[in-house]
Amino acid sequence: MNILVLGSGGREHALAWAIMQNPKCDRLICAPGNAGMAAIAECAALDISDGSAVLAFCEEVSVDFVVIGPEAPLAAGVADRLRAAGVLCFGPSAQAARLEASKAFTKEICAAVNAPTAAYAHFTDAEAARAHVRAQGAPIVVKADGLAAGKGVVVAATVDAAEAAIDAVFAGDFGRAEVVIEEFMTGEEASFFVLVDGETCLPIGTAQDHKRVGAGDTGPNTGGMGAYSPAPVLTDAVAAAAMDQIIRPTMAEMARRGMPYSGVLYAGLMIADGQPRLVEYNARFGDPEAQVLMMRLGAQALDLMLACAEGRLAETAVNWADDHALTVVMAAQGYPGDYAKGSIIRGLEDCPEDSAHMVFHAGTARSGGMLVATGGRVLNVTARGASLREARDRAYAMVDTIAWPEGFCRRDIGWRALGDAVAR
Ligand code: AMP
Ligand code: GLY
Repeated sequence: MNILVLGSGGREHALAWAIMQNPKCDRLICAPGNAGMAAIAECAALDISDGSAVLAFCEEVSVDFVVIGPEAPLAAGVADRLRAAGVLCFGPSAQAARLEASKAFTKEICAAVNAPTAAYAHFTDAEAARAHVRAQGAPIVVKADGLAAGKGVVVAATVDAAEAAIDAVFAGDFGRAEVVIEEFMTGEEASFFVLVDGETCLPIGTAQDHKRVGAGDTGPNTGGMGAYSPAPVLTDAVAAAAMDQIIRPTMAEMARRGMPYSGVLYAGLMIADGQPRLVEYNARFGDPEAQVLMMRLGAQALDLMLACAEGRLAETAVNWADDHALTVVMAAQGYPGDYAKGSIIRGLEDCPEDSAHMVFHAGTARSGGMLVATGGRVLNVTARGASLREARDRAYAMVDTIAWPEGFCRRDIGWRALGDAVAR
């Protein structure tokens, strides 16, 4: 079949890499893609949030299956447009993707089915929000309602910080003037990935991300500086509780409301005393979590995504391997703040490339035969092993063969699971 992957990050390179290994894939096209995807697939310049443009492209090159990577095309209704025209597609409708796009919507769905999550209140009036924060006290969490590229959440240590965050939302910093204010939850965070075909929910893996830029989880938040899978804290018992108390009830409620969810559901969980509570839902794979999930699933990822899109999950099983994967993000110096583009990356040709070693590209391009950095997060150095330590050692051995003085990475990815209190 002819398959189109939408997106240009490390997540999409990992999806493309897994898909390409499956003999069902005859032709693979990535839009817009990056230098890593260009090495394994055709790349097409396309405005991926423009449903009409994507549909016209699918008709022109006879695309049989579209895999949507990022949230923006989902929120823009690209999956709806493709499905309405009879194009098979992996990714939820715009209505169902509101589970990511609107925090107030998700909280309301959770409340309707009593799914464990932080207590919350929703405000469209700044003074009422400030009064609520003063009454509750700190720490407290202030969230802009809407897609804010991960920047709309403030975990406020003081009432003053919470009020400042409310003021920023009502000053229009994040588009919509609406806030969700949540109880601060303690525990350990982990990500749970579940395929949903409208009815059946099939878990496909767990991971832990490293959101902060600095060693020991310090400094500003980023899109993610590294990840590993599986997440030891998300034990089988915790996963079963999350399925029974959170995922199945909320997915049943979505179907009951006439907006069945189809695609991958990414549940961010806070786990304390063996009990999961929902932090957030995302309507897509995580980035860099997809890199470790794809490394572990390999070619079956395509079969799973097809079964999901075709509503066949009830008769589908995951072929689990007892393995571990870890990815280290290499980013341009300055990220997540300002950074320079155009620096040259050398040494990638000396990194092994096989089922246990892959460098997934994010912001890269080829220029005059050289590989150049074109974004903040640039490379995802990913390895698989029989243990997490083996995967970690393999990944850092690859990092050490890459010559890119203008880049940096965290040296302590996996510290929580490996028990390393300090960076290597
Ligand atoms: P979100 O975009 O909702 O995932 O929030 C971003 C990050 O803020 C999460 O990954 C958590 O680390 C933190 N966070 C969000 N909500 C809460 C909460 N209610 N309690 C504690 N931490 C939270
Ligand atoms: N790595 C976090 C995310 O994809 O949202």
